[in-house]
Amino acid sequence: MTHPKRLHIGMSLAPTWLSNDAWRRPDSNIEGIFTAEFAIDIARRSEAVHLDFVFRPDVSCLMAPGIEASSGVASLDPSILLAAVARETTRIGLVSTVSTTFYPPYVVARQLQSLNWVSKGRVGWNIVTALQGHENFGLDAMPSAAERYARAAEFTRLVHELWASFPHEALLIDREQGRYADASRVRPVDHDGQYLRVKGPLNLPSFPGPRIPLIQAGASDSGRDFAASVADLVFAPTPDKDAALELRRDLSRRAEHHGRSPADVRLLPGLSLYLADTREQARELFMQTHARVDRNRRFASIRQMIGLDLSEWPADRPITRADLPAAVQDAGNSTHRNLLRRLLERESLRVDELLLRPEVISAAHWQVIGTVDDAVEQIADWAASGAIDGFIAAPGGSVDSVHRFLEQVVPRLVELGLFRDRYQGTTFMEHLQEA
Ligand SMILES: Cc1cc2nc3c(=O)[nH]c(=O)nc-3n(C[C@H](O)[C@H](O)[C@H](O)COP(=O)(O)O)c2cc1C
Repeated sequence: MTHPKRLHIGMSLAPTWLSNDAWRRPDSNIEGIFTAEFAIDIARRSEAVHLDFVFRPDVSCLMAPGIEASSGVASLDPSILLAAVARETTRIGLVSTVSTTFYPPYVVARQLQSLNWVSKGRVGWNIVTALQGHENFGLDAMPSAAERYARAAEFTRLVHELWASFPHEALLIDREQGRYADASRVRPVDHDGQYLRVKGPLNLPSFPGPRIPLIQAGASDSGRDFAASVADLVFAPTPDKDAALELRRDLSRRAEHHGRSPADVRLLPGLSLYLADTREQARELFMQTHARVDRNRRFASIRQMIGLDLSEWPADRPITRADLPAAVQDAGNSTHRNLLRRLLERESLRVDELLLRPEVISAAHWQVIGTVDDAVEQIADWAASGAIDGFIAAPGGSVDSVHRFLEQVVPRLVELGLFRDRYQGTTFMEHLQEA
């Protein structure tokens, strides 16, 4: 039987449903966020509806003022947390985030391959070049975007060489002959590159299964090109369908340029979901969550991103394209800067409207504030137009949005033939390759 192209769906393990003021709700379970059980609960629920993977973003620094009013991004180390989740799940993929700018590649290759063994082939690597945290790794400044991506490319090649340096086929385990392994099949990598120097081999064999899928987040020109050259999944902010269509087309073109099939580079935008019985209730949930909007912080972030100072802007005067300062290039986050500029070029918004848009408040992700029907309809529409290959769900407002998504939205996508009703394989790569 033919069915529409199936989506690949991941679930954020960053508790987006506790962001802003949502942690203050009595049912938030905020006290549990540094326990493994917190993530295990979400992972098990996600596995029960056959999601492709759970996903743990990560940064290597603490924005201390940010934790005054919410938990911010304080979190357990993602790979250690996922090792605990691996023991309590059996099929779902486990995506860990590891920066190529800060960590030594030998340690990264070893940790991810260890997690792959512990989870029996379910690990995925979210490759980030990172935006901040250099002070914690002995660097004077954040390297430029060009340098971070050049290092990321070398780093990723090297990690693959390390994984291949001790192939599982080298293990003989021949008790009769007393041969544990064929040492001639284990080779050093002798890498001496522009940024990294590692001898190898890795002190751990590769897992006997499909290779570890790669996820890339970063949508600047260099980010897209890097993603198109190596990534199986691209996690990107696409606040509207046009942005997703444009990125999807661009990734296809770049994939072909790198000699890859466009179908092998899957686009999975982040999808922020505020769900309730009615649209009014969903809107109220959203507004309650953002009730204590720190206007000054948001003004500072807009000023930093695009150089526009809105602190004295008249409330009733829309911001137009003509108000935008000339675009600037720097080492910062060009993806979010470009998306904010794009929004202000396409729409004339008043300050209060702008401060509640995803480009300002939620990393520019696609956002549905509404009912389960609204979410299903939008996902089906974006899928039908070929804008996406799936998405990473980031429910907001309360844990109720998580449960509505998993228990109501996903089953509806299954009914529409847009999602699997059971797992076929046992490894993460097998889920991605299912027809
Ligand atoms: C959707 C998205 C998610 C990201 N997640 C992380 C993350 O979890 N940790 C991190 O250090 N950087 C993260 N980044 C930052 C990227 O790795 C990259 O450094 C940044 O986006 C700048 O590159 P770009 O200009 O190509 O976007 C993320 C970026 C995007 C767009």
